[in-house]
Amino acid sequence: MQNNTFLTLFVGQTIVKLSEVDSTNTYVKELLSNSKPLLDGTVIMADHQFEGRGQSNNVWESKPGENLTLSIYLNPSFLAVNLQFELNKAICLGITDYLISLLGDDCKIKWPNDIYYQDKKIGGILIENVTKGYQLKDSIVGIGLNINQKEFGELNNRASSLSKILHQDYDLDKLLAQICNSIEKRYLQLKATKLELLNADYTARLFRLNEPYLFKIDEQIILGTIKGVNNNGRLIVGMEKGIREFDLKEITFIFN
Ligand code: BTN
Repeated sequence: MQNNTFLTLFVGQTIVKLSEVDSTNTYVKELLSNSKPLLDGTVIMADHQFEGRGQSNNVWESKPGENLTLSIYLNPSFLAVNLQFELNKAICLGITDYLISLLGDDCKIKWPNDIYYQDKKIGGILIENVTKGYQLKDSIVGIGLNINQKEFGELNNRASSLSKILHQDYDLDKLLAQICNSIEKRYLQLKATKLELLNADYTARLFRLNEPYLFKIDEQIILGTIKGVNNNGRLIVGMEKGIREFDLKEITFIFN
């Protein structure tokens, strides 16, 4: 479907709306592996994902028709493979630019790419990249945002939604248009190599930045203070014995 209501150049100009799919990310992958050409910025969204995928092989559960579950196909062939975390920064910033306009500064990025409001998760991002030589070729940017869902079952203490926080329901199509707009702005900054700006904004928005908190590292509970991310996107944490850097599997946030 061609979309003329979006205020964007390309993100969301083509939208495919599915009532049901296993996973929008898998759907885009299948299109690409069948050599189906996709326009840069194509959005695939679904009312219901019955096998939504999250980070680290987790499942992403979302009540049908209540939230945003979508994938954006991007063609970041200008970006070297070793800079792929910069794309993650741009996407996190695009989403939170818009959410902060509704929720204020308590909306944060929990490294590397969870969207939090206070100490509850309201969204997640799963970016799957295809490379060609030293460059990126295709990027599937999967985004799940909790919008109108009010019940999260056993995750009630850890998950929330726009509607739970702000006590109103949202029109998903309007929200999608706004989010595509703010993602495109940040993606264009990335394309224009504004890497220092993206890094400064991403760092400033990190959940628990510069506040001593407990982390689980090598099965031990250790006090540390997040300082930022390095060039590869590893988390920089200040600890009693000095500064250390971590991959996703090497450090866990402890919630109190
Ligand atoms: C996470 O926090 O673990 C990432 C969740 C990403 C979920 C989105 S929903 C749309 C897209 N399709 C998927 O299967 N996953 C992503």
